[in-house]
Amino acid sequence: MAWGSSAGPASYNELVSYEVTLIPGDGIGPEVTLAAQRAVDATGVKIDWRRCELNEETILRKNEVLPPEILASLNRTKVGLKGPVTTPIAGGFPSVNVALRKALDLFANVRPVHTLKGVKTRYQDVAIDLIIFRENTEDLYAGLEHEVVPDVVESLKIITRKASLRIAEYAFRYARANGRRRVTAVHKANIMKLSDGLFVRCARETALQYPDIEYKELIVDNASMQLVMRPEKFDCLLMPNLYGDIVSDLTAGLVGGLGIVPGANVGEHHAVFEAVHGSAPDIAGQGIANPTAVMLSAVMMLRHLGEREAADRMHDAITQVYQDGKHLPGDVGGTASTAEFTNAVIRLIQA
Ligand code: NAI
Repeated sequence: MAWGSSAGPASYNELVSYEVTLIPGDGIGPEVTLAAQRAVDATGVKIDWRRCELNEETILRKNEVLPPEILASLNRTKVGLKGPVTTPIAGGFPSVNVALRKALDLFANVRPVHTLKGVKTRYQDVAIDLIIFRENTEDLYAGLEHEVVPDVVESLKIITRKASLRIAEYAFRYARANGRRRVTAVHKANIMKLSDGLFVRCARETALQYPDIEYKELIVDNASMQLVMRPEKFDCLLMPNLYGDIVSDLTAGLVGGLGIVPGANVGEHHAVFEAVHGSAPDIAGQGIANPTAVMLSAVMMLRHLGEREAADRMHDAITQVYQDGKHLPGDVGGTASTAEFTNAVIRLIQA
């Protein structure tokens, strides 16, 4: 299942309405998902939004990380648009996001990172266009931690052949279907010879089936340095869970920050689209959050649904607002509120 390419017709607009599970989340989540929802609706694609509450307050009140109604809704709709959810510090609750990805086996975390013209960055003169493919179900995020004896804890890093082959296959298949040139596996197999060693062996095996795609390997520390020095050289990056999480934020910083980088969590049967950023409690409720990342996640969702024309129109409207530069949110140097930015995007979608 690849959201970037679709064999379907250009638009089902007139024929179909889609059911989509909408999880506003908390913090800035409700503000930015509302913006994305309004922009999607403005394209004319008919979405029957199935709203589900999942946030720090419901988790603490129900004493449950993932209420069954959320899974029931996603099992019905197969597609979700999700805002960020705060991970409660109290009570030892695991992350909602980790739980959701595990429960639905959303094994591929796909995060495209592009230069957005109009955003001032340290890399004004180069075009950054890379995609992170992060394994989403295991590694140190398996949550297997315990205290061996007082003051000594153990955290287990799980890497399996099955999950490593699956994410490698997804990345290479995506690269081929979308005209990308290269996949780079990022690892630390020089130290974690067994775990990251297995991940790299699976990447190599998969690469053999894709002779048309160049295959490279980089150790994660070197990859981080190279990304800062020459980000324009990178294409598709294939990573285990932890490195993928960290490198995602690093690459977001290269193109202007967390406010603009979208993402998708994709499994065999479900896809949940969400920004890379979290609930940003420092700016929540002020109406100033940048909704671009969730809007671009919604563009990915429209492509996944086969609504290519609407996806392109929404994408072009967002990029046009950036190029015009008159309604940019504060995190990218403007003064527009979330609503002002969203209204500018909607005007262009409907123009
Ligand atoms: P964060 O991504 O929420 O915020 C980091 C910084 O980026 C903050 O200064 C924030 O104001 C800024 N920022 C993030 N998104 C922005 C936007 N759309 N517009 C403007 N500025 C934005 O990361 P943090 O503070 O580490 O996490 C806060 C909470 O979010 C934690 O409880 C964490 O567990 C949770 N989280 C949830 C995620 C999800 O649900 N997918 C992903 C990452 C974190």
